Amino acid sequence: MGKVTAAITGVQGYVPDFVMTNDELAKIVDTSDEWITSRTGIKERRIQKEGASSDMAAAAVAQLLEKKGIDPMEIDLVICGTVTPDYPFPSTANVICDKVGMKNAWGFDLIAACSGFIYALTTGAQFIETGKHKKVIVIGVDKMSSILDYEDRTTCVIFGDGAGAVLLEPNEEGLGVIDSILRSDGSGRQYLIQPGGGSANPPSHKTVDDRLHFVKQEGKQVFKFAVTNMAEVSAEIMENNNLTSDDVDWLVPHQANLRIIDATANRMGLPSEKVMINIQKYGNTTAGTLPLCLWDYESQLKKGDTLILSAFGGGFTWGAVYLKWAYNS
Ligand code: UT7
Repeated sequence: MGKVTAAITGVQGYVPDFVMTNDELAKIVDTSDEWITSRTGIKERRIQKEGASSDMAAAAVAQLLEKKGIDPMEIDLVICGTVTPDYPFPSTANVICDKVGMKNAWGFDLIAACSGFIYALTTGAQFIETGKHKKVIVIGVDKMSSILDYEDRTTCVIFGDGAGAVLLEPNEEGLGVIDSILRSDGSGRQYLIQPGGGSANPPSHKTVDDRLHFVKQEGKQVFKFAVTNMAEVSAEIMENNNLTSDDVDWLVPHQANLRIIDATANRMGLPSEKVMINIQKYGNTTAGTLPLCLWDYESQLKKGDTLILSAFGGGFTWGAVYLKWAYNS
């Protein structure tokens, strides 16, 4: 028997119907389509008007299972990467299991901001590799509109809402998650944080008055760290696995800013046609960006393709995953 790896055997995304364009945002804050497009690459984003993160994630998971013809009762484990859980507790994974009918599964949420999906994917893969589980769902979902300050033009223009989910199953052909590098540096929290609502600043009239329940970001600082670290870790995982730019079929980068994506692709020596980009239509959906990219590009992926997933986000957290795509769609 060959070594068991964890292969992605299906992917599904969900984005809310409501489209908020840059021009719409320009009616709310002092900004313009020209500024947002040239600084970030974003043209529009989706906003979930009603419901919670679990509703977007449950929609993605239900459609994924339906398309795969898998009974929800077969799922062993659900890992949900999110910074916008439905509640402090129970976990969003717990709620998703209930909404989809995955009654034999256990699950938990994983907080790693924009790196949530690669952290969750790497964690889920371990449960497949040990043989402990046969079917693991990994989700990246965020309802960023629930924690955005629509009076702060520096943050509200870059984020959007959305969810993506993948199914992990055992593979003995050497396909799936091959390697990962995950990093964190908690000193970066000063630059990107939602300060209120946890045990450091429990909810109170004051935390609301001080707008502490919203995302606070020092964009320029985060940009500097993101460019350096996402590019470095992507190059490092290629070196560690003796991959040249010719060997890599796809870069799947976190969609925070087109300029960060370009810098990462350049450092890896990859032409733009090998880079997945959907930031123009969804903005930065935090944990949702990577599975939404895989969903959008699924029809172009071929069995055996080499993918590098790469992300950088709040925490700071960052990392890269090297995986081999396991199916033709
Ligand atoms: O996904 C998690 C990790 N997050 C990231 O990776 C985000 C990283 N950071 C960024 O992508 C960029 O820093 C931003 C897109 C957030 C901001 O772009 P920037 O080029 O770094 O702009 P800046 O903050 O340096 O601001 C430049 C100017 C300022 O005006 P002055 O001081 O030069 O007069 C800002 O006040 O742009 C102004 N500005 C805006 N103008 C119009 C900031 N936000 C806006 C806006 N519309 N929305």
